[in-house]
Amino acid sequence: MKLDVVFSPQGLCPADVAGRTVFVIDALRATTTICAALTNGARAVVPAATSEDAVRMAQSVGIQDAVLAGERNCVRIPGFALGNSPLEMTAEAIGGKLIVQTTTNGTRALLATQGARAVFAAAAVNLGVAGERARQSLEQDKDLLIICAGREGAFGLDDAYVAGRLALAALGGRRVRRGLNDAALAALDLVRRYGDTFLRPFSYSEAGRHLARLGMADDVRDAARLDAYPVLPVFKERRLTIAPVAVPA
Ligand code: MLT
Repeated sequence: MKLDVVFSPQGLCPADVAGRTVFVIDALRATTTICAALTNGARAVVPAATSEDAVRMAQSVGIQDAVLAGERNCVRIPGFALGNSPLEMTAEAIGGKLIVQTTTNGTRALLATQGARAVFAAAAVNLGVAGERARQSLEQDKDLLIICAGREGAFGLDDAYVAGRLALAALGGRRVRRGLNDAALAALDLVRRYGDTFLRPFSYSEAGRHLARLGMADDVRDAARLDAYPVLPVFKERRLTIAPVAVPA
């Protein structure tokens, strides 16, 4: 069995993801926002690397069918309808349209998964369904990769803690070491350290403190709500949609 966590997508090469089932985590806030958007009726979420790419993609589907969303330095990109807040992703704001999203770290991590066998987005808000899918994958394939979006290529406490929770769920709650890389072991240690509260690691993290300074502490609280947006986003054919969830036997 092989269960790898990486704390940042930086340095990942195609061979690291090729043929593997991958979970991408950006709890503060891109993957949380994606779960909120799909829960509230987005037709799909299309990640774009740059704001220029996002505009081009929105134009290619027809600007009336797409909503531009994204941030730089956590703040909405000028001219975009939405930022990167899960709280903005209301059914009204989305209107059943396609969301074209560009964020600093989250969309970059998603776009680093080319060549993977299957890619899912995970956060605290969908940990139940994501954890169950991770458990099934590990059981079937004996292999799983969890990619934390992190912050500017570095470790992020919020994502690392969620990675630990997801790894623990994938292992069916068993505390094993065999087949786990060091980052997976460290992520599991964070779960021991913080227990089952998301709010502490989220609000202690650099991302959480930065959001609080910008007046977005509500986003941190929203992202810490376990299973608040219980959908499993699957990233396929360049878009995220809701994966059908297999009920365990
Ligand atoms: C990111 O992708 O870097 C984050 O989601 C930033 C944010 O909190 O908006």
